Amino acid sequence: MRKQFFIFGITFLLLSIIITYHYKYSIFFPLTVFALILLGIANSFQHKHAILRNFPLLGYFRYLFEFIAPEIQQYFIERSTDGKPFSRNQRSLVYQRAKNIDATTPFGTQLNLNHADYEGIKHSIYPAPVNEELPRVIVGGPDCRQPYSASLLNISAMSFGSLSENAIVALNKGAAKGNFYHNTGEGGLTDFHLQGGDVTWQIGTGYFGCRDDHGNFSAEKFAVKSNNPLVKMIEIKLSQGAKPGHGGVLPAAKNTEQIARIRDVKPFTTILSPPGHSVFSDAKGLIQFVAQLRELSNGKPIGFKLCIGHTEEFETICQEMIHQNCYPDFITVDGAEGGTGAAPLEFSDGVGMPLEPALIFVNKTLVRFDIRSKIRLICSGKIISGYSVLKAVALGADMCNSARGFMFSLGCIQALRCNNNQCPTGVATQDKMLMKGLVVTDKSERVYHFHKNTLHSANELLAAAGKKSFSEADINIFMRGDEFKKLSDLYFPDILGNALKE
Ligand SMILES: Cc1cc2nc3c(=O)[nH]c(=O)nc-3n(C[C@H](O)[C@H](O)[C@H](O)COP(=O)(O)O)c2cc1C
Repeated sequence: MRKQFFIFGITFLLLSIIITYHYKYSIFFPLTVFALILLGIANSFQHKHAILRNFPLLGYFRYLFEFIAPEIQQYFIERSTDGKPFSRNQRSLVYQRAKNIDATTPFGTQLNLNHADYEGIKHSIYPAPVNEELPRVIVGGPDCRQPYSASLLNISAMSFGSLSENAIVALNKGAAKGNFYHNTGEGGLTDFHLQGGDVTWQIGTGYFGCRDDHGNFSAEKFAVKSNNPLVKMIEIKLSQGAKPGHGGVLPAAKNTEQIARIRDVKPFTTILSPPGHSVFSDAKGLIQFVAQLRELSNGKPIGFKLCIGHTEEFETICQEMIHQNCYPDFITVDGAEGGTGAAPLEFSDGVGMPLEPALIFVNKTLVRFDIRSKIRLICSGKIISGYSVLKAVALGADMCNSARGFMFSLGCIQALRCNNNQCPTGVATQDKMLMKGLVVTDKSERVYHFHKNTLHSANELLAAAGKKSFSEADINIFMRGDEFKKLSDLYFPDILGNALKE
């Protein structure tokens, strides 16, 4: 192709000179052709990009198409029920609820319900009245001196750094209006989180906001910040579903001077938090740390967040709680299907337990050790609708967190650019120009409405199942497609042929 490029380029250049000379056009045209030929020559001799070496100018189209592939996929190819990680239908649901407009769909389901994977709620012929009040849950075990009344749905951990300043402020103001909490994420507690909304302060392995000069946990700094009245709960981050066993990642492009100052790190370098904590390295140390944070914060609810890996490790933590007679006030279970700003693909695709089995396991284990009543169970992992809230509660959760649901409510379009600072909606970027697109006053209203309308939908589903309160919801209100397969075997025995006769 290089030979063709040279032949075509020189012919085109000569033609452009002749046309320009003949018709007395501006010299700009042949000069542009000449510049492109020079660029092509430079490309054909460079060693880094094979495509540009072989196709000196056309090769650029590959980069262009690769850059806009997510948009092409989303706008021209994707159907309403596809789209990953969230389908167009799921995203639209959040947008409509956030805008507080009609969130109904016409004409019936687009899903294939006669399928083993189908999942639905068993409604009752005698529905309960719909509760107009949004459900709340008290968090605070036996050792807690400042229990907190939390909403059933809250904003999951997302740091300032991963999200923009405008996004954090809009989330916090929405939380303030709707009376639910906003988890800071591991990037530290900043002024943007202190806009009036209730805060859960997350402490990750980098101890951002409460670290000493060597990057170790600083009890003094923690004590000052944790006693801020807006900080209602403290969460120790052990792991996150999208990258369990891997520390947090803040790409260099997003580590601006402002963020570096808040986190006490070098600006414009990639910040990798260590995979594990330096304060403890076993269950005994973890539970001691829970006790230490409780003392330093004057008895605020303390919990930890994890994605389940080795189940025995969780059992050991339970034994240690009993041994030390010290219980976290809450445990947050994050499913492996959870989101992230940036993670290695191997970790997102192939490490950790998904939410459903993890939640069932943690709930049952706490019951088995007879400590379930002392601890609130929070969960996260693709919770964006009333249905997913109700299902999480039915599987054993007391409360839910949503990260990407609230991102959609801020206007996120799933452009999949959180990791390169080019988020076009200003949600997950530190680019000031892009951030301007996100207007805080407008988006905080959407955050408020998404929360309210989603919980209202959960209330309606609960009532349809004939239940008056979330404490009555258990897995028996759900049915699955594989059950019908068995039922149809019973009702239509002919299809079993001889197998049944035997
Ligand atoms: C942009 C982004 C940043 C996140 N940052 C954190 C974090 O700092 N700490 C953490 O524990 N989880 C973090 N998470 C994970 C979420 O808190 C949540 O556990 C996970 O995304 C599952 O919820 P979802 O399915 O509603 O998104 C982040 C997720 C996203 C999408």
